[in-house]
Amino acid sequence: MGTSLRKIVFPTAGMGTRFLPATKATPKEMLTIVDKPLIQYGVEEALAAGLGEIVMVTGRGKRSIEDHFDISAELETNLHAAGKDDLYKTVSHVARMANVAYIRQKQPLGLGHAVLCAAPWVGDECFGVSLADELILPEGKSAMQQLREVHEQTGASVIGLAPVPDQEVSRYGIVKANDENGLLRLETMIEKPSIDEAPSNLAMIGRYIFTPRLFGLLKDTKPGAGGEIQLTDAMCQLAAEEPVYGVVVEGARFDAGNPYGFLLANATLGLQHKEHGEALRTALKALL
Ligand code: G1P
Repeated sequence: MGTSLRKIVFPTAGMGTRFLPATKATPKEMLTIVDKPLIQYGVEEALAAGLGEIVMVTGRGKRSIEDHFDISAELETNLHAAGKDDLYKTVSHVARMANVAYIRQKQPLGLGHAVLCAAPWVGDECFGVSLADELILPEGKSAMQQLREVHEQTGASVIGLAPVPDQEVSRYGIVKANDENGLLRLETMIEKPSIDEAPSNLAMIGRYIFTPRLFGLLKDTKPGAGGEIQLTDAMCQLAAEEPVYGVVVEGARFDAGNPYGFLLANATLGLQHKEHGEALRTALKALL
């Protein structure tokens, strides 16, 4: 079953409390992994999966995200005039890589509410959702592409998953999944369960494709864990009404929404850096 999936929502209104004070005046999505902000990795992944119509649900203090994907005429003119061609190409590419729309979430009412804010823009189509603080480096196919393929096969909602250790289940939405003819069909999911409540060790890792039915359910979702309108709660309803599948995503994953995952992502990509990787390796060895 082919589908014309092309829209993707990036919820970017979160307050980034796990990264204070860094995120006091800088959106967490703009924190850099080596030389690119987290949100740019997410946008590149979406584009690679053919999801070229992007909306970011932003909030107060998030203007630098808009500036990042906008044309900076002054900067481009200066770099060009100075003959800094590589930098000029990099900067002008970022400004032109995608058409991005912005919607303001006026109050921090939760991830589910943020996704619901994008409903008028998405309309009656299937759509992706990506949480940019989960960085997933492709090993072959990108994470979103892996989801897209199961969506094209089934026409259904598809959720990206990864196994996590026991001590981490309380940080994530955790699913209960059953095998259905070689696909993982999700029966239910719980937001940030204790290890006793957790139905498995399979966590949702911030990559989703939904049918538009999700919006109708989100409208009626009451505040859940943490007093927030949770995406996971609406997904539970969705899974009770229609098939929702899971994909255990292949690729190196970093939960860069936590300081440790963020540092590890920087170390990993830093060591792979064309210009600085070797020097960093030598310096780290000396430190250790
Ligand atoms: C959110 C979701 C959670 C998911 C996680 C992935 O939580 O609510 O279900 O497992 O992202 O990182 P947050 O990290 O915003 O607390």
